[in-house]
Amino acid sequence: MDEKCISKAVIRRLPRYYRYLGELLEDGVERISSNELSTKMRVTASQIRQDLNNFGGFGQQGYGYNVQYLYTEIAKILGLDRTHNMIIIGAGNLGQALANYVQFEKRGFKVVGIFDVNPVLKGISIRGNEILMMDELPQYLKDNDVQIAALTLPKNNAEETADLLVENGIKAIWNFAHLDLEVPEDVIVENVHLSESLMRLSYNLNCYVTEHKK
Ligand code: NAI
Repeated sequence: MDEKCISKAVIRRLPRYYRYLGELLEDGVERISSNELSTKMRVTASQIRQDLNNFGGFGQQGYGYNVQYLYTEIAKILGLDRTHNMIIIGAGNLGQALANYVQFEKRGFKVVGIFDVNPVLKGISIRGNEILMMDELPQYLKDNDVQIAALTLPKNNAEETADLLVENGIKAIWNFAHLDLEVPEDVIVENVHLSESLMRLSYNLNCYVTEHKK
């Protein structure tokens, strides 16, 4: 299987398949047809077949999909079958909320370090991680195997922090700061902007209200 060939659109949908399949497993469901999955997930059965065919077609005619197998294969594709060590830069409200969220670890994303510039925060423990100061970061990255850095600091400081992370070998940035980071080609940035999601919600709400006034 060549992971590079799976389109970004499909990859974007995979976490949702993974979540639904996980729920099916919890309910003891062993196999499911694309039609049943389609009703549950409210996407067309042909979309499901197309998406899942992308990586080898786990379905069998007349049998449907083996839920456990599909769940495991999607986990492998998403890299959830291994642990990713993650650090958080900016130990304010958002950084601490992320550090406190236990479910990331269950998915293999382990928060191993939290950094800030505010000396008042130094040494405060969040789920077993003492907040470290930014000047400790380069050495920390030399001594520890870290794959992901979450940026939860003010946007004015985000670009230079991203540069520092990249200089010290970080290849994946989970960016919450509201700016588009400029990074080398071999560095991956995943932006999470809750306000953009809210704007889409607002748009759809307005559309819905307008439609129903007609
Ligand atoms: P906050 O003010 O509570 O925390 C920011 C922390 O970053 C502070 O502890 C501060 O000392 C630290 N900091 C400042 N400069 C730093 C540097 N150079 N290196 C390391 N740490 C540094 O702010 P909050 O509410 O936690 O928000 C953090 C960031 O996330 C802001 O940029 C905010 O706009 C953004 N945000 C993004 C959301 C999203 O959906 N993308 C949602 C909420 C906030």
